[in-house]
Amino acid sequence: MKISQKTIDEIFGAAIIEEVISDFVDLKKRGANYKGLSPFNEEKTPSFVVSPSKEIWKDFSSGKGGNLISFLMEHEQFSYPESLLYLAKKYNITVEYIDINPDEKKKDNHRESTLIVMNYVKQIFADDLFGSNSKALDYLNNRGINNEIVKLFELGFCPKKQLKLVDQIKSAGYNEKYLHDTRIVNKNGTNRFLDRLIFPIHSISGQVVGFGARVLSDVLKSPKYLNSDTSEIYQKSKVLYGLNFSKKYIKKEDVCYLVEGYTDVIAMFQANIKNVVATCGTALTKEQVRLVKRFTNNIVIIFDSDSAGVSASLKAIDLFLEQDINPEVIQLPTGEDPASFCGQKSTETIKQFFLEHKTNFIEFKCSLNVSDASSDLIKHVKNIIYSISLIHDNIMQAIYIKKAAKKFSLQEEDIRKELNRLAKKTPLTSSRNLNDNTNKQIDFKKLKKNNLEEFRLIRLFINYGSSNIVLPDGTFQTISRFIINELDSDNIGFTTPIFDTLYQEIKKNITIIESQNNDFFLSHSNLIIVELASYIIADQPFLGNWSRKDIVVREEKDLLSQVAKESILRFKLKRVQSMRKNALEKLKNPNASVDNDLTTFTQLNQLEKKIQKELGRIC
Ligand code: CTP
Ligand code: MN
Repeated sequence: MKISQKTIDEIFGAAIIEEVISDFVDLKKRGANYKGLSPFNEEKTPSFVVSPSKEIWKDFSSGKGGNLISFLMEHEQFSYPESLLYLAKKYNITVEYIDINPDEKKKDNHRESTLIVMNYVKQIFADDLFGSNSKALDYLNNRGINNEIVKLFELGFCPKKQLKLVDQIKSAGYNEKYLHDTRIVNKNGTNRFLDRLIFPIHSISGQVVGFGARVLSDVLKSPKYLNSDTSEIYQKSKVLYGLNFSKKYIKKEDVCYLVEGYTDVIAMFQANIKNVVATCGTALTKEQVRLVKRFTNNIVIIFDSDSAGVSASLKAIDLFLEQDINPEVIQLPTGEDPASFCGQKSTETIKQFFLEHKTNFIEFKCSLNVSDASSDLIKHVKNIIYSISLIHDNIMQAIYIKKAAKKFSLQEEDIRKELNRLAKKTPLTSSRNLNDNTNKQIDFKKLKKNNLEEFRLIRLFINYGSSNIVLPDGTFQTISRFIINELDSDNIGFTTPIFDTLYQEIKKNITIIESQNNDFFLSHSNLIIVELASYIIADQPFLGNWSRKDIVVREEKDLLSQVAKESILRFKLKRVQSMRKNALEKLKNPNASVDNDLTTFTQLNQLEKKIQKELGRIC
């Protein structure tokens, strides 16, 4: 199911950028723009600017900028559809969905219904926790967890009387099959979580997707925790407990604490250390690492101080390094986990301990190796170099090479040799390289500098795509169509992949682009296109730049037509020049079929001269 284009258009039509952003940033009017303190950095002088006329924002302290969707994505960590839904709610717009196909619709309905039932069940459990005579609430309070945190995490209790959950669900009008699908109840209809404390597990956007259920008394023989089964809405490997609450703190602090359990997250939150998530006892997965990477590149692992905790830390370290996340480790005193350690301590005491005990992964690995035997030492050093070899980011890798060299009194050169040896052994195309392109920030400035001719045409499409220019015969044509016709007539396109992607989209949607200007790009579902468009719109005023070059500004349309023609000619010139260069190279080759190649070369030479002459007439 997708949000319909009609709804997207309506949202873009209704939303006012300064109104949306001022819900998060205190904006003051300054001339045509609004200014405020950056929500992304601590600062004293406001450097965050919103331009109502261009419908964009720019944060000069961090260099970030974009349209209102990218603001919500950046600030609230919403996904693209979540941002749209947020705006629809704010502006009272009814969201219309379009179905992709009937099967998909059925699946979506099922998913939607499961979520609704989970939410309903969560509320029953939460009400029961606060119901009269709740031993579960007493249990939590005795463990030092206060009611405010209990409510925030939507904790619940499933009393023995709750045997009839199925009936309750049915009488509320829901289908009991959803209780079976998620295995809250067994096949025979009895509730699996009876007499247990309930920890709802939330998705990143805050929907309840599963439950963890803890016994109230540790003396019982039954397992301490029972958890929801994997279902359509809950895949353990793709969820980190607490992330929906902690994401904004992780982003703000630019570091994330990784702990093992539900109670660890909750205790740290209560201690006012809120940038924390838990793996919930299972081994960390690649998907979970990618989730964290959306918010920070810095992780501090604080697992339970037992041997299972240590070996889980070692595995986690390598997974983080593979995704260029910088892992640090804090080892707690024997017998403690973050929940027991943080309870009853002040935030300052905890933070001080963390500061004093935080080690990088090399130090951590060294602290585990107590042996002095040289064979053990070699194994140990090789193990650390192996971890370093997993890092893809050159600078990060260089830093760790330096650290390791210092630690073991080795030459950096020797470590690099060992790294090269390892690189030969392992295939270069790791899964990370293939999947991660979209996460990389594109350096638009560099892209522009290296491909200026292509960039200038793209800029025309985005800034003036729907503007008309006058043709020699006196008729009008939009800039978009004019450029496309010109390039098509010479059968040329763009060579830079991102520009080519955009150009193909433009060709496909030319009629929309002709009618709605850059909204098309700013509301596109391909985020790279949104980013590129935002960058171009926020880039320096384009026509202003031209008038500075002493071109006499007559009417804007005249100037625009001149700019368009010149940009196309420069684009073609660049292409012809590179073709001529190739032809010349060929001529130098002793085996060249001189006649043919010479003709090509001469033709290109003439073409180049012709374009130069035309350019001279325009400029
Ligand atoms: N876990 C589980 N099933 C178990 C034991 C543990 O799913 N039988 C998961 C839970 O998510 C738990 C995490 O592993 O939160 C860590 O386990 P543990 O340290 O034993 O539990 P704590 O979270 O520390 O719980 P408590 O503080 O209540 O003992
Ligand atoms: Mn624990």
